[in-house]
Amino acid sequence: MDGEPDVQAVETVRQLRALATPAGAAALSRAAALLAARTDAVTALTRLRAEVGTDLAGPAWGIARQRDRARASFGADADRLLFTGDTLEQAGRPVLADRRATRLLAAGAEAVADLGCAAGTDTMALARAGARVVAVDRDPVARELTRLNTAALGLTGVEVVDADVVDLVAAATAGTVAGCEAAVLDPARRAGGRRQMDPDRWSPPWSTVTALLDRVPTSAVKVAPGLDHDRVPEGVEAEWVSVGGSIVEALLWGRGISTAWRRATLVRDGAVSEVSADDDPGPAAVGPVRGWLHEPDPALIRSGLMSLVADGATLVDPTIAYLTSDGPAASPWLSSYRVTDVLPFNLKKLKAHLRSRGIGRVVVKKRGSPIEPETLARQLRGPGSDAAVVVVTRVAGAPTVLVCEPLTPG
Ligand SMILES: C[S@@+](CC[C@H](N)C(=O)[O-])C[C@H]1O[C@@H](n2cnc3c(N)ncnc32)[C@H](O)[C@@H]1O
Repeated sequence: MDGEPDVQAVETVRQLRALATPAGAAALSRAAALLAARTDAVTALTRLRAEVGTDLAGPAWGIARQRDRARASFGADADRLLFTGDTLEQAGRPVLADRRATRLLAAGAEAVADLGCAAGTDTMALARAGARVVAVDRDPVARELTRLNTAALGLTGVEVVDADVVDLVAAATAGTVAGCEAAVLDPARRAGGRRQMDPDRWSPPWSTVTALLDRVPTSAVKVAPGLDHDRVPEGVEAEWVSVGGSIVEALLWGRGISTAWRRATLVRDGAVSEVSADDDPGPAAVGPVRGWLHEPDPALIRSGLMSLVADGATLVDPTIAYLTSDGPAASPWLSSYRVTDVLPFNLKKLKAHLRSRGIGRVVVKKRGSPIEPETLARQLRGPGSDAAVVVVTRVAGAPTVLVCEPLTPG
């Protein structure tokens, strides 16, 4: 698509094909065994060269290392899939790709275009869910990975296409793109190893994102979690997804599939909680600090839906996402801490106070304060045997410290 593929890409494709042969599979399993035995790279490569040949040794070792990294999110599939460092870095979580596929297919889509497939995470999820998939990427390595990965999983109905997504979306008509009535678009949001904050510099850029949402109503676009709410087009649902207390994905759902204004989704231990609203519910009320402090999940904060789970709890400050109430919260969205002391922020007085209470170990949390939590935690370390959570924040505009006990798990 971009003229002659570069020499490095041609060589990587050749190596990937070699690894997909029976000899390549044997080299990969030997490399995996050496890695599992914690063999250092120099020794492992020397042995691999002697045992499987110089051609397969390096690529097999490289893939074995990527599989090791991929196992945390791809599980057992990781041992059948191929990734380069770059495509693994860009890969989403399969469990979330499965959710996305289920929602697109539930909207009636049969054929889905995966626009920018990389190693094929979304393509695999869509094909597994029963869709016919047109997987598009302008990178020949990505296309080869998607071909080999879908074949390794025995998935059928996948066509891998060399095209520029900008052109495909510009040519989209009658609600379809690349011959499909639904699409997933996951723009590359990194350049030169660094996160690209400006959506106009994503690849494909923001103009292609909005064009897809306008032209193909059954579409899902992965965007940066920090995306400005003002960018979300009218009628498009924005969803923030958190796993393990961090936002891992943000999605825009096209008008043909959107069922809310904003949605927050929390995935924990396989269970999924969702909060959504058809319109901006506005902020939670503000009030004085009470006996309990609640830290909302970041997806709830980003989605602007905090007031929906507040349940009588109030914000400690109009600009700070901490809630407070008279008891612990019974919500998966809120982590609750019992507040034992409320002090104006003063390092010397805080140290003296913690010592007087026998507190020698602290976890520092902060919001709306320039302090560096690890540094402050070190400064507050003392001889006392008790522990506390020290929250540095603003309360009604004033720099304040809330000394808290963590909520016992469960
Ligand atoms: C973030 S990655 C996709 C990751 C994938 N969804 C996954 O979870 O594994 C973006 C992909 O889009 C491709 N890409 C970027 N701009 C493109 C364009 N204009 N046309 C075609 N492919 C493009 C890149 O080569 C890259 O493989």
